[in-house]
Amino acid sequence: MSIKECKLIQLPKITDPRGNLTFIEGNHHIPFDIKRVYYLYDVPGGAERGGHAHKQLQQLIISISGSFDVILDDGYEKRRFHMSRSYYGLYLGSMIWRELDNFSSASVCMVLASTVYEESDYYRDYQEFLEAVKIKQ
Ligand code: TYD
Repeated sequence: MSIKECKLIQLPKITDPRGNLTFIEGNHHIPFDIKRVYYLYDVPGGAERGGHAHKQLQQLIISISGSFDVILDDGYEKRRFHMSRSYYGLYLGSMIWRELDNFSSASVCMVLASTVYEESDYYRDYQEFLEAVKIKQ
């Protein structure tokens, strides 16, 4: 997938003086069925996460608390997104190399994923990822 197809999706937000509420339904607000949810938390200052791409997996990345940056790379172009609002999700399709950095204190990064965890779906080597991107073009 091209980086241009990765996008920020504005999620429903029910504002209420008692506290706001956001919800996400698979195949409705996002273009896939949700098979797995995971989250990053207790991230120490200066840490970097990610550093991989997926062969098939689609994901939505949300900053549930605090903020962080996501750097996307489709092998041709890079884009940095600053995630700081719980009612925006960053949609990523397959074959996008991602890195996460600039985590604020007490930040929580929640990820909705289209498949269960499968190590064979990962490219963890950047050169191998680049070669696979060129073959697919
Ligand atoms: P990884 O995907 O490399 O994390 P990040 O992209 O945030 O740096 O996963 C880190 C470790 O956690 C790795 O050993 C695989 C394991 N893991 C699971 O067992 N299940 C999961 O759903 C995820 C996302 C990771």
